[in-house]
Amino acid sequence: MIILLGAPGAGKGTVAALLTGANGWRHVSTGDMLREAVKAGSPVGLQAKAYMEKGELVPDDVILGLVRERLAADGDVRYLFDGFPRTRAQAEGLDRLLAAFGARVDGVFLLEVPREVLIDRLAGRRVCRQCGAVFHVRNMPTRVEGVCDRCGGPTYQRPDDNEATVANRLDVYQRQTEELIGFYRARGLLHVVDAAGAVEATRDQIAAHLPAAM
Ligand code: AP5
Repeated sequence: MIILLGAPGAGKGTVAALLTGANGWRHVSTGDMLREAVKAGSPVGLQAKAYMEKGELVPDDVILGLVRERLAADGDVRYLFDGFPRTRAQAEGLDRLLAAFGARVDGVFLLEVPREVLIDRLAGRRVCRQCGAVFHVRNMPTRVEGVCDRCGGPTYQRPDDNEATVANRLDVYQRQTEELIGFYRARGLLHVVDAAGAVEATRDQIAAHLPAAM
């Protein structure tokens, strides 16, 4: 089980798509799971919506409940987690969940990107409404503006990618998630990755350190 750690816009989802494509591992994004729940209007979605719109973290018990359900449904833990865990309580909860499956965290990759690059990536991000593919108006543009290259669906700008919410998400990351860097470093699991360059370069740095099982 691998964790991709990094600020909003660091490229966790983009690089996860490249890594899972090559290895058959599952990309699990708690952000995507929450957006699906919001779209479906489920009880979790109704609870999460207000937090997400403000760029605040959804409560730990809600997130751990979602992950627990996912693990129980899939029955294995060949996961690349993107955006989870985000607090110490989530990290400790994850350890307990994995122990129940006889598994553990195998590696944590910290994607480092300067703040001004993060802001530019988030401001220009476009996502396919239909298949969830991620683009960027300048760095990774669609061939036809507003139309997904992969499935032909319409692309849109995430509502939490506006300037004020982005600023709050970056602050929330510093306040609530950065402590996980020390948490995993102390356990000898942390790999620091320079993720400011091309996504292929980020992928190669991660692939070089993936456990042999991958
Ligand atoms: P979530 O969806 O997880 O958002 P995030 O962490 O803010 O991360 P992003 O999806 O914004 O960034 P990313 O690193 O995946 O970047 P991407 O690859 O898209 O969470 C949303 C909300 O849900 C949270 O605010 C919170 O409310 C809630 N939530 C989720 N998980 C939670 C949890 N565990 N606990 C509590 N609450 C939770 O790339 C960004 C852009 O950059 C794209 O346009 C891409 O094309 C471009 N790009 C990527 N890589 C490169 C590159 N190498 N070069 C150039 N451009 C690049």
